Amino acid sequence: MPHDISLISTISVGFALAFVLGFIANRINLPPLVGYLVAGVLIGPNTPGFVADSVLSSQLAEIGVMLLMFGVGLHFSLADLMAVRRIALPGAIGQIVLATAATAGVFHLLGWAMGPSIIMGLCLSVASTVVLLKALEERNGVATPNGRIAVGWLIVEDLAMVLALVLVPAFAGVLGGHVAEDGGHGTAADGNIFVTLGLTLAKVAAFVVIALLIGPRVMPWVLRQVARTGSRELFTLAVLAIALGLAFGSAKLFGVSYALGAFFAGMVLNESDLSHKAATNSLPLQDAFAVLFFVSVGMLFDPAILWQKPMLVLAVVALILVGKSLAALGIVMVLGYPLSTALMVSASLAQIGEFSFILASLGIAHGIFTQEGMNLVLAGALVSITVNPVVFSVTERACHWVNANPRRKARFEDSRQTRFLALQKELEDARVRAAEKAAAHKTFTPEELAERFPLFSNLTPEQREVLLLHFETRTAQPGDRIIRAGDAPDNVYFISSGEVEVRVADRKIPLTAGDYFGEMALLSGKPRSADVIALDYSKFVTLNQNDFRQFLRRFPEIRQQVAALAAERGEMNEGFFAEGEETK
Ligand code: CMP
Repeated sequence: MPHDISLISTISVGFALAFVLGFIANRINLPPLVGYLVAGVLIGPNTPGFVADSVLSSQLAEIGVMLLMFGVGLHFSLADLMAVRRIALPGAIGQIVLATAATAGVFHLLGWAMGPSIIMGLCLSVASTVVLLKALEERNGVATPNGRIAVGWLIVEDLAMVLALVLVPAFAGVLGGHVAEDGGHGTAADGNIFVTLGLTLAKVAAFVVIALLIGPRVMPWVLRQVARTGSRELFTLAVLAIALGLAFGSAKLFGVSYALGAFFAGMVLNESDLSHKAATNSLPLQDAFAVLFFVSVGMLFDPAILWQKPMLVLAVVALILVGKSLAALGIVMVLGYPLSTALMVSASLAQIGEFSFILASLGIAHGIFTQEGMNLVLAGALVSITVNPVVFSVTERACHWVNANPRRKARFEDSRQTRFLALQKELEDARVRAAEKAAAHKTFTPEELAERFPLFSNLTPEQREVLLLHFETRTAQPGDRIIRAGDAPDNVYFISSGEVEVRVADRKIPLTAGDYFGEMALLSGKPRSADVIALDYSKFVTLNQNDFRQFLRRFPEIRQQVAALAAERGEMNEGFFAEGEETK
């Protein structure tokens, strides 16, 4: 293959094959991820036929990791995590420690050095959030308390792994690997391990503080400026630039991993309503590169491991399916939760996925981990993800079995409800708070916007979407004065619910949902022409002066309609004043 088209062929064959196999996997009730991995195996150097460029694909995979982590940051809900912290925090940490120690012990006994054994332990200790979410979605379990405990648990695992990704390069020397030469990461090879650890953590902490302090102030502002241009692609581009730029920049400046940088970029965007909408725009790209990530991981897999080292493969699978699950089951029971919760968490954890691959690749890059280890991790992932649906149905049967017998039920379920109920209440409170917050912020979908405001019905869905980005929401209580006659203009108001009253001279004109007001002063540049008072609990979406003017400039037809109504209102008011004069 001529070198100059290797990028094209790697991407196109990768996507095409991943699509076909992902689709087949889905049809036979497996997560599509299995299909992507197999696609990678097929175009990898270890199977006959087309061989994609593995150097290129590993870089594409790196972009995939950044975007995956960006996605994790984007969906990270602190409120949910806080609600399940009493079980998820000790549970996930305890389980990572137990599973890592057990796995590292087994592999050390089998003759591996301590460094690769520990990496193997970490790889097997963390489950895939992607796989779990898919499994929960299929069972309608995402919103159930047990489902949220499992998700919270995995988020703690993800966070612990983010830390591991930062620490592995720093400890490369100690773990028997080679020391990074780019100077980007601190290294523990030369002397005091605590100094290195301290330095690494200090850099990470500095980065986190800067990202969280400056990010939420600057990013939404930047995005608002971009949104003003009215171009959705510029907007998507801005989000991507923030995700990848922050990941790359922070890796260069602070020596933190791309993954951590991207995670925080996601979290920063997650904070603001406007940005969140924008971030959703970038999801397709995120999905696409995540697929390439799995494909390129598959490319590394050498199926020969299955017949060359079957016992090791079995050991890995057993550690994932049995070892890890038992550890989690034990921990949840010790923490005093019902057996059904314990079984659900165990089933959720009985697989490994993206973080294990990331960690294994990192281990290889730093000379700590071996290709054989990577093959074992991959075999473990393929098998455990494939049988995960079976694990779930086994645990469901176990639950039925326990519940079928009153004595068993009393012992394993009913007597263990106190903590579970407390947690359920906390989750419910978090949900209510989140719903309130969302309701206060919610504007509309582009369809709802057109439905409510006939003024916007001729815009294309895309134009409406851009318009929505500019909207702010405001609420008012009965009696609130929203506009005072004679004031300088600031916003135009679109009533989404409730009722207001316009007061001119001694006339009162009611306006309701779908109407708008505040346009006259913005058009004429004069002070407000009337008082506007809320009659009911009301909600508005508002556009500021600049955005409104720009919007009208872009859509002359709407400008005409708005100007016509303003003129009509103006004439009407002159009439009112004239009448007032006459009666005097
Ligand atoms: P503005 O002058 O910016 O602020 C007060 C708003 O009340 C005005 O814009 C119009 O949107 C609205 N308004 C004024 N007069 C009338 C009217 N006669 N009928 C309906 N709305 C009006």
